[in-house]
Amino acid sequence: MSNITFTMIKPEAVEAGNTGAILNKIESSGFRIVAMKKVLLTKERAGEFYSVHKERPFYSELVDYMSSGPIIAAILEKDNAVADFRELIGATDPSEAKPGTIRYEYAESKGKNAVHGSDSDDNAQIEANFHFSQEERF
Ligand code: RTP
Ligand code: MG
Repeated sequence: MSNITFTMIKPEAVEAGNTGAILNKIESSGFRIVAMKKVLLTKERAGEFYSVHKERPFYSELVDYMSSGPIIAAILEKDNAVADFRELIGATDPSEAKPGTIRYEYAESKGKNAVHGSDSDDNAQIEANFHFSQEERF
């Protein structure tokens, strides 16, 4: 079990001014911010990040959306970070997310669902390395 996960606050949540509220929920749930930045992904970078979903029908929509405005990327640390963060963000589709979860409160739809969370320890490492060098982590 690794103790880091990777998150992005997605474009619609940043645009709506929900960055602070979402970060507050993350920190008050016991996650420590190890690295963080606001960044506009190019289509190419967004496509590379989500390349595991290349064959899925929603891939091009997802890539367009994730490069449509700036995101907040962050590495988070906590015991059992990956599983606990997935619990905190809730189901992919906000209509299925439990009350109190970030997606229940802030997601607009299954596509525009406010936040990303890594789905495994291996992917947490890959995604953290995709966005941050070692020198950017504290
Ligand atoms: P994420 O990777 O963003 O944390 O989301 P997730 O694990 O809950 O969901 P995943 O299956 O990995 O899907 C990645 C993202 O693609 C968009 N999506 N749209 N329109 C659709 O049916 C659909 N399905 C997925 C969402 O933005 C989802 O978070
Ligand atoms: Mg996923």
